[in-house]
Amino acid sequence: MLLAGKNPDDLILTNAQRSELGRFNVTQTISALGKFKTPSLRNIALTAPYMHDGSIKTLTEVVEHYDKGGDKNRFIDAKIFPLHLTPQEKADLEGFMQALTSQQPLE
Ligand code: HEM
Repeated sequence: MLLAGKNPDDLILTNAQRSELGRFNVTQTISALGKFKTPSLRNIALTAPYMHDGSIKTLTEVVEHYDKGGDKNRFIDAKIFPLHLTPQEKADLEGFMQALTSQQPLE
């Protein structure tokens, strides 16, 4: 077996190409290739950088990323496509995410 005896977390965290395989690293099923958990947005303003590879540094850039339809790859979901948001809509979306910050300190 490809990953026999290895901790999938070690591979994913230390090998960028391996990380791109997503959930496949855990299940080794073809249908899991390039799939990632949709994370909670709770306290998202406090947890930069974003995405599985930490490639996006700010929420402003996250909104731009989705507005342009994400990064094209063969696994991208059909629900990710160019949005053509107005500047006001982008600001509102970022404001919404900022509002998901708890008043209580993180544990
Ligand atoms: C404009 C709309 C959207 C916004 C503002 C948004 C926001 C975000 C943010 C801030 C993250 C980073 C979370 C983190 O790193 O902890 C994220 C990741 C993610 N979102 Fe979205 N999202 C949007 C649309 C969608 C849609 C439509 C889907 C599903 C089709 C989706 C699925 C995911 C997934 C799977 C991740 C994890 C990606 C990775 O780890 O590389 N999102 N999103």
